[in-house]
Amino acid sequence: MGLLTGKVALITGAARGIGKAIALKFADEGADIAFTDLVIDEEHGGLETEREIAAKGVKAKGYSGNAADFAETEALVNQINKDFGHIDILVNNAGITKDGLMLKMTEQQWDAVINVNLKSAFNFIHAITPIMMHERGGSIINMSSVVGVHGNAGQCNYAASKAGLIALAKSIGQEIGRRGIRANAIAPGFIDTAMTQALPEDIRKAWIQNIPLRRAGTVDDIANVATFLASDMSSYVSGQVIQVDGGMNM
Ligand code: NAI
Repeated sequence: MGLLTGKVALITGAARGIGKAIALKFADEGADIAFTDLVIDEEHGGLETEREIAAKGVKAKGYSGNAADFAETEALVNQINKDFGHIDILVNNAGITKDGLMLKMTEQQWDAVINVNLKSAFNFIHAITPIMMHERGGSIINMSSVVGVHGNAGQCNYAASKAGLIALAKSIGQEIGRRGIRANAIAPGFIDTAMTQALPEDIRKAWIQNIPLRRAGTVDDIANVATFLASDMSSYVSGQVIQVDGGMNM
């Protein structure tokens, strides 16, 4: 019996990267997995992810959808609830960067990042909360970032969206805690994914030099904390931000 046996988890932006690692870890713990991404097909890896999850012996289905679209998300969540019967865990993981210094940032860069990173979480929470309230409570996890806690020059749009995800978790945690729904945020630091592998080697080295544990985080480091927050192991934890950053910010 796994930590999440009998539960259904919905993870956004999980065709690859951190979201995929969370989906696989949740499946290891016995959860059925619904996940979304912009396009679920062979080319973008979503179907392979679906097969990898299903190979663990749980129900798995990927759904195409733009998480930033309110109406589309509502329809998607209702479809997933129909397909899986209930939804117990939501991980708002879909995210993008469009970096630039504030004075050079365009309105499009600002709007795109706020819509995909922050509005998407509102869209999913708004659609799923009535389902969780009807069932037996649930756990909502917003994927924030250390820059949402500390800010970062050149990322004012991204940092603001990630700070918003923390305030969103704390606010809904206060609103719907009495219905048995917990809401928390994870703030990853420097994690080894396609996003950070794209950085020049000297910048990667400089980042790692500033991390007390002297290494980049892995997607599994994040998935482990997500599993704790999703499971009953954290049944008295709500409204918290867990920084998973190798001690970068103490
Ligand atoms: P990634 O780029 O590998 O994965 C993000 C996924 O979200 C992609 O599959 C992408 O197609 C999907 N996505 C983008 N826009 C979408 C939309 N409108 N609707 C649905 N899906 C959409 O990124 P990674 O590294 O796995 O990051 C996952 C989350 O963790 C993001 O929210 C990111 O901001 C956050 N994070 C990552 C860190 C890192 O070092 N990699 C550090 C801190 C936070």
